[in-house]
Amino acid sequence: MNEHFRPVALEHASRLINHGPTVLVTSAAGGRRNVMAAAWSMPVEFTPPRIAVVIDKSTLTRELVMASGAFALCLPGAALVDFTHAVGSVSGRDGDKFERHGMAVTQGPVLGMPLIESGCAAWLECRLIPEPHTETAYDTCFAEVVAAAADTRIFANGHWLVNDDNQDLHTLHHLGGGNFARAGGVIRAKST
Ligand SMILES: Cc1cc2nc3c(=O)[nH]c(=O)nc-3n(C[C@H](O)[C@H](O)[C@H](O)COP(=O)(O)O)c2cc1C
Repeated sequence: MNEHFRPVALEHASRLINHGPTVLVTSAAGGRRNVMAAAWSMPVEFTPPRIAVVIDKSTLTRELVMASGAFALCLPGAALVDFTHAVGSVSGRDGDKFERHGMAVTQGPVLGMPLIESGCAAWLECRLIPEPHTETAYDTCFAEVVAAAADTRIFANGHWLVNDDNQDLHTLHHLGGGNFARAGGVIRAKST
């Protein structure tokens, strides 16, 4: 439980991943739980808010997501760069990755998914939208966002507040090969 987290209105949930942050996909089913990194996720529909995320069919995450019909996207801040890379490099089939890294979780309010708040900027709890053809043909999963929350030090009133004072919470953007860019260098367009 992180005292800085507050619910995000579902109409603003798409803004959490609009800028393409690397996410942690958390999942749980049948007494097992897991977390993996995903660079490929995006909003796809406004109301209700729906997202797409690529979860390789060979992963333990995919197995748990198909079993429970749910997952969460947690947005790691820059301070979690090593954790993010690590959970994207080994499978949960080789042991509980939360335990290995001493990572605490809370339980999602709607679907009971494991949520990481410590070091994360936000999370979205998502219900899988069953798409039999897509699930067989592709690694992409579609889901409805049913709850969301963010650390108010970096996202409040529906807007990101990226500045020099909250660098540990700046989202990560995968450049490949274990390299990430941190969100920052914000510039504001003039309204005409
Ligand atoms: C930075 C990063 C981004 C990744 N992005 C994705 C992705 O978008 N989709 C995917 O299926 N795998 C992605 N991966 C690979 C998975 O995280 C990796 O296969 C993971 O070990 C699967 O874990 P699991 O078997 O415990 O579910 C990424 C890995 C890293 C390090």
